Amino acid sequence: MNNFIFENSTKVIFGKGCVKEFLASLVDGFGDTVMLAYGGGSIKKNGVYDQIMETLVKAGKNVVEFSGIMPNPTYAKVQEGAKLARDNRVGGILAVGGGSVMDCCKAVSLAAVYKGDIWTDFWAKPGVIDFDPLPLGMVVTVAGTGSECNGGAVITNEELKVKTGRDYPRCNARFALMDPTYTFTVPKSQMISGGFDTLSHIMEIYFSGPDAENVSDDLAEALMRGTIRDLRAAVQNPEDYDARSNLMWESTMAENRILKLNKQTDFQCHMMEHQLAAYVDCNHGAGLAVLHPAYYRAICEKGAAKFARFAARVWGISNQGKSEKALARAGVDALTAFIRELGLPSTLRELGVTEETSLEEIANTVPLAPGGYGKLTHKDVLNIFKECF
Ligand code: NZQ
Ligand code: ZN
Repeated sequence: MNNFIFENSTKVIFGKGCVKEFLASLVDGFGDTVMLAYGGGSIKKNGVYDQIMETLVKAGKNVVEFSGIMPNPTYAKVQEGAKLARDNRVGGILAVGGGSVMDCCKAVSLAAVYKGDIWTDFWAKPGVIDFDPLPLGMVVTVAGTGSECNGGAVITNEELKVKTGRDYPRCNARFALMDPTYTFTVPKSQMISGGFDTLSHIMEIYFSGPDAENVSDDLAEALMRGTIRDLRAAVQNPEDYDARSNLMWESTMAENRILKLNKQTDFQCHMMEHQLAAYVDCNHGAGLAVLHPAYYRAICEKGAAKFARFAARVWGISNQGKSEKALARAGVDALTAFIRELGLPSTLRELGVTEETSLEEIANTVPLAPGGYGKLTHKDVLNIFKECF
């Protein structure tokens, strides 16, 4: 194993009824005024809003609402939230939603107290956060990103056409409340794309060195098998509590930094998807589903030993009569077939890319990761985009 330091400062409270039981005591340190942040209104339809409002009011809090946080949250929305927080002297933020709401609120928690411009100082390039952001708590309503348990926030700067994420430990929420029954109302397509995002996070960590037997890869293999099993079960029955609670925790486990310990990681597929989203505002998990097979076909020969292990240990494919390269390829084929089985999109057209979209322009804006098994060039990225079109 490589050397590492591990810390995760977010307290997780998981299970049926956890919001009702614990929220009031958790917002104790949030001052008199709490900002309740949410997305486009799903929480008003499924009763989550009423339950949270009732709890906050009973706890004696003034509530300032910050609503309308969109999928792929923008920097303009972050600035709106920061102004609202400052104008109302908000003492803490309660983010109720998925990755978009949670990420937006992490950035708001910084921007509300920072004198300079957070995009310039912390997103355009990595910065040092040497001040305390506003206290932040999460109520997770959709599984997939794992944002509840890390300091990562992916923000889109619409003017610059850049979607990028940074992970600052100081942006970890103080607490995350995770009631799997809250996810029952998530539309099936979002449940599936969120589940695929989880699988993608695990793969982007797994397909990188070191490749000698290690704890991170062992955990990753178990989590990949579990995510595949639970997605299949949840597609059959969206109210299967075991499946939905597993998916929720698999999503957290994929992105709470544990799997990344000791690993180089390779988030090239995420970087490609983020820039596509900056141009065509596509769904995150759906974008990843389109890109992953093509990216892995491009690198699987160089990483043949690891892709062969993926085929055998995750998909249960026999190595009998197969060369290492053939087994590696069979693993990528199994992933591709699973994406088809789930009904996820498989072309960029389905994400909103048209003949008029300049794939070359987008490809040239994609940051290039060192790569688990070789570094891509912008030309390689363009070829992957063309293959997926
Ligand atoms: O906005 P509302 O009306 O709430 O509807 C949302 C939204 O339309 C809906 N939804 C959420 N909970 C629901 C529900 N609908 C019914 N019932 C519920 N209980 O789901 C839709 C998608 O929500 P969103 O938050 O956008 O999805 P997701 O969790 O996939 O987050 C995606 C964002 O997170 C970023 C992505 O790039 C994207 O911007 N990521 C964040 C990461 C992180 N911080 O660690 C890592 C990821 O790789 C990812 O990049
Ligand atoms: Zn992701």
